[in-house]
Amino acid sequence: MRKRLGVMCSGNGTNFENIVRSCNEHEVVLMVYNNKGCGASRRALKFGIPNVYFPSTEEIKIINEFHWARVDYIILAGWMRILSQNFVSQFPNRIINVHPSLLPKYKGLHAVEQAMESGDKETGCTVHYVNDELDGGEIIKQAKVPIFETDTVQELTKRIQREEYRILPEVINKLP
Ligand code: GAR
Repeated sequence: MRKRLGVMCSGNGTNFENIVRSCNEHEVVLMVYNNKGCGASRRALKFGIPNVYFPSTEEIKIINEFHWARVDYIILAGWMRILSQNFVSQFPNRIINVHPSLLPKYKGLHAVEQAMESGDKETGCTVHYVNDELDGGEIIKQAKVPIFETDTVQELTKRIQREEYRILPEVINKLP
């Protein structure tokens, strides 16, 4: 069934653009961003996706916008703030996050750097339901990538993101 998707972004918005391009059975009805001038806002304009800026402190307003837009799911596509318990409880099992590590390893904001520093030979990305623990909800899908000794953070991030672009739309297209 066609889903009404809300998306939340803080940064470049490459996952957001990939959702718009790859999930055309569904409709992105609203993208909320919390950094003025971020890549995600430019991509929303390019694709004509309704979008609105809110500082992340304005959670009540963001919740209201998503209710008003009658979203079925909210996708966190590079949203770099923790959602409050109240926010999560408004959309139970309806918020999906993509995170650049093989959770439960390396939660939080520096997952790529932590994987590199750990000496691990592989890392990856995780798509999971959001609950009120940081990067803690039920895991839906993961993909692995190798870590090479010569990698820079940028190179490893790109390798991980290529897998994000593959598994996040796969998950969205199979959502109940
Ligand atoms: C993605 O790689 C995503 O995994 C990461 O932010 C990036 C956003 O890139 N998310 C987190 O680190 C969440 N803790 P994008 O704006 O180009 O999609």
